[in-house]
Amino acid sequence: MKRVATISELRDELDTARRAGRTVGLVPTMGYLHDGHLSLVRAASEECDVVVVTIFVNPLQFAPGEDLDTYPRDPEGDAEKASSAGATVLFGPSLDEMYPEGRDAVLTGVEVPALSSVMEGVSRRTHFGGVCTVVAKLFNIVGPSRAYFGEKDFQQLAIVRRMAEDLSFPVQVIGCPIVREDDGLAMSSRNVYLTDDERAVAPVLQRALRLGASAVRTGTTNADEVRTVMRGELETAPLGEVDYVEVADPRTLQPLRHADERSRLFAAVRFGRARLIDNVSVAEVEPLGPVPFLDRPA
Ligand code: PAJ
Repeated sequence: MKRVATISELRDELDTARRAGRTVGLVPTMGYLHDGHLSLVRAASEECDVVVVTIFVNPLQFAPGEDLDTYPRDPEGDAEKASSAGATVLFGPSLDEMYPEGRDAVLTGVEVPALSSVMEGVSRRTHFGGVCTVVAKLFNIVGPSRAYFGEKDFQQLAIVRRMAEDLSFPVQVIGCPIVREDDGLAMSSRNVYLTDDERAVAPVLQRALRLGASAVRTGTTNADEVRTVMRGELETAPLGEVDYVEVADPRTLQPLRHADERSRLFAAVRFGRARLIDNVSVAEVEPLGPVPFLDRPA
């Protein structure tokens, strides 16, 4: 695996590969890699000749007061993991390389407002603008034919996909399933923020979503009832503060009044310093059996 820190060196490297007819896959990350990230790298290495993993903690997508300064970092560990998962190029630019005049001097932004004002966008108003801008920049720097994103950040995946379609980026955006710990907690770099007590109760997030899916699968069509089921389960957990629960259309991300097998269920919960998000597809998740908080028989 080659480690590259400048845009010009990366472009030279990839131009040569493309001229030789090799396909380029991109896996953008903010580092502190875990098995969720590595599943994207493995998927890319099965389908592409050159696999570029980028590691850049992008300041544009953090609001003041968020965890930009404390975001966990482990460049050497990341390099080892990326390489063993099949990365061929690791691009780790400095802040200066990406934003030479500083983050505040970036005057251009890419946004997908219609998909960015719901769910994560409510409490993180400027987040997806920052994500789209850096992803557009990475698409232009790397020129991948395929780019891999996790369903863990389902709203991000939908927004990036739409951005690529609307702006005719010649890249196929590929979504990969959520990788979870044995107890169901979705892997996340931010899980390191959890105390032992918070970590012990954090799987409630996945349980609440599966319970919501069980309700839909056993005939609950009123989306508000599904929201009540999910919120009820989340509120059984001490230490957690619910940010939102949602039943939404997976394409438009808009909240639904009627839930069915095509719906996607979302939740965000704050545990101390960590704000965790998760989601499931009603059709795909393994349901959890009988649903409390509902009067109707299952
Ligand atoms: P980051 O949080 O590092 O995530 C990088 C990629 O890994 C994203 O596509 C994310 O959805 C995926 N991922 C994270 N945890 C996962 C899990 N448990 N299972 C499957 N995939 C998982 O998302 C970002 O970085 C940034 O916003 C970025 C796209 C790099 C732009 O800065």
